[in-house]
Amino acid sequence: MSAVRTRTLEEYHADYQQSVEDPDAFWAAAAEPFTWYKKWDTVRGGDFSPGGTSTWYAGAQLNLTENCLDRHLEQRANKLAIIYEPNDPKTRHSRLTYRELHEQVCQFANVLKKNGVRKGDRVALYVPMVPLLAVAVLACARMGAVHSVVFAGFSASAIADRINDAEATCVITADGLNRGAKQIPVKSVVDEALASCPSVQRVIVIEHTGWPVDMQPGRDVWYHEEVQDVEKTCAPEPMAAEDPLFILYTSGSTGKPKGVVHTQAGYMVWADYTFRNVFQVEENDVHWCTADIGWVTGHTYGVYGPLLAGATTLLFEGVPTYPSPGRFWEVIDKHHVTIFYTAPTAIRSLMAHSVDHVLAYSLSSLRVLGSVGEPINEEAWHWYDQHVGKGRCPIVDTWWQTETGGIMISALAGITPSVPARAGLPLPGVQPVLLNQDGSEIEGNDQEGYLAIKASWPGVIRTTWGDHERARQTYFTPYPGYYFTGDGARRDENGLYRIIGRVDDVINVSGHRFGTAEIENAINQSDYVVESAVVGYPHDVKGQGIYAYVICHNGVPTTDLDNQRTEASIVEAVVAAIGRIAKPDKIQLVSGLPKTRSGKIMRRILRKVAEGETQALGDTTTLLDPAVVDEIVAGRK
Ligand code: PRX
Repeated sequence: MSAVRTRTLEEYHADYQQSVEDPDAFWAAAAEPFTWYKKWDTVRGGDFSPGGTSTWYAGAQLNLTENCLDRHLEQRANKLAIIYEPNDPKTRHSRLTYRELHEQVCQFANVLKKNGVRKGDRVALYVPMVPLLAVAVLACARMGAVHSVVFAGFSASAIADRINDAEATCVITADGLNRGAKQIPVKSVVDEALASCPSVQRVIVIEHTGWPVDMQPGRDVWYHEEVQDVEKTCAPEPMAAEDPLFILYTSGSTGKPKGVVHTQAGYMVWADYTFRNVFQVEENDVHWCTADIGWVTGHTYGVYGPLLAGATTLLFEGVPTYPSPGRFWEVIDKHHVTIFYTAPTAIRSLMAHSVDHVLAYSLSSLRVLGSVGEPINEEAWHWYDQHVGKGRCPIVDTWWQTETGGIMISALAGITPSVPARAGLPLPGVQPVLLNQDGSEIEGNDQEGYLAIKASWPGVIRTTWGDHERARQTYFTPYPGYYFTGDGARRDENGLYRIIGRVDDVINVSGHRFGTAEIENAINQSDYVVESAVVGYPHDVKGQGIYAYVICHNGVPTTDLDNQRTEASIVEAVVAAIGRIAKPDKIQLVSGLPKTRSGKIMRRILRKVAEGETQALGDTTTLLDPAVVDEIVAGRK
């Protein structure tokens, strides 16, 4: 494993200090062990103001897959790179060594080339969690295409938006997908999306479930047929450090998801550095990140981080509760997983079942536990620690975002403090600050404010695809000179960070981000709906649930049947526009919304009602029609 590695608390403090005082030297050392076709001219360039553009390792040339694969062939050719555990435990699992993965990536890259994909083209992937998804992602990186993975749970309309925004020319998909007891005919979802995607010329279909699909002649090809006659080697395409590597869409305050762009060299160094240090990875670790590759966690800690480090990564097609709530633990024992990285929502959903499901397994291989995606509540933290970690595995509560490329604030396993409900100390290279509303820095401990990051780090978002101004406005304009995270945080009396949650109009449902405006736009697609307002509220399992207040054309339905029909139409509209994952948990049909005289919805009131804090609604005198509030309180779900 490569060089820069913090192993003690003293080293952490020294490394942190060096990363702040001499970042060029620190990040040059972190980049040294990689294979570079040409070394960089400058380590860091640009800054956060006024343009919001950073560069890292500018002037360098490299290929990420050379570093994920070829670089390991001398010493790790026969080591397992990927272990694949399918949805159904009765289906046989499979494994790929580094040599086999290298060969498959080369072949897939050759298939892409054969099908007209060129360097810089965008390739959209809508694929179940199968090894070929990881292979396809790496194949794009190998031949220089920009991958845009869309979680295979989004609707046709959401896929179409993402494909059109990136003007993708090629789509990779599969015949079908099993997720728990659910079956999704992914190819037909893609077909529906492509009816409105003129840029797409080729669809490559992976055979997975064997279900029948429609193949459009001239557009659609089967991967297993295309791969028959391609070479097993493919020279890695030399990429410039700041060439885009991938686009990943995520939700913000506005209705339209944005394409977060990460580039080659900085992302590589950040993925590798954060993975090895946070999890304190050793040569024989089997790392299981339960996130789907459709999310950033799956990109950085399911694929790139582990492979850059030469570790073994486990890909799981299924869900925590299928066929039983013991599935996670069964998989850990079966494959001797040493590092387990999951989301609080998964832990909470398993806590709801008998602890016997956990106690039935030894879990003795586990060494480190991780949490990501949302704040982990103390109860879940202790359950995880006691029943899964048996009190002997450090827990790393890792705070980061799609935009940060990798982990920013977290314990380093077994080294820096791990305290329930605290993400902890910043990683070397990360300078968090708490800001007041006016943008001034809040000094000292035991303080709360807006979380922002001072100074660039290698994994920072470079731009939003096709619209740099949006990135500038969202992240670098609110507080000039800082990257603004959108989160609120507290620095406790020991300087450890506790993430409080979003301070913008973003809801975090089971660790997945949705903009309230995005869900409102979807709801408003229903023929019944005039206007809607969506807020988050505390949810026992999901962290936050989606609460929708909706005004309908015919007023508030008076019969149960009308009510059901209206609610069904609203749910259907959301499922069609975004996907089942954004389905409102509660819908309240109302005759009006609390608006100020200038027409602005007072969301504060809606949030309080959704949270059940109806006694503490605050001042409502500035409302146009205060009586609306009484109706909303009375009809609360
Ligand atoms: O609010 C924070 C929350 O998830 C947001 C980022 O979401 P996304 O870009 O989808 O990335 C999720 C996986 C990295 C953050 O703004 N969040 C993420 N991790 C944590 C967290 N909140 C509290 N604690 C965490 N460990």
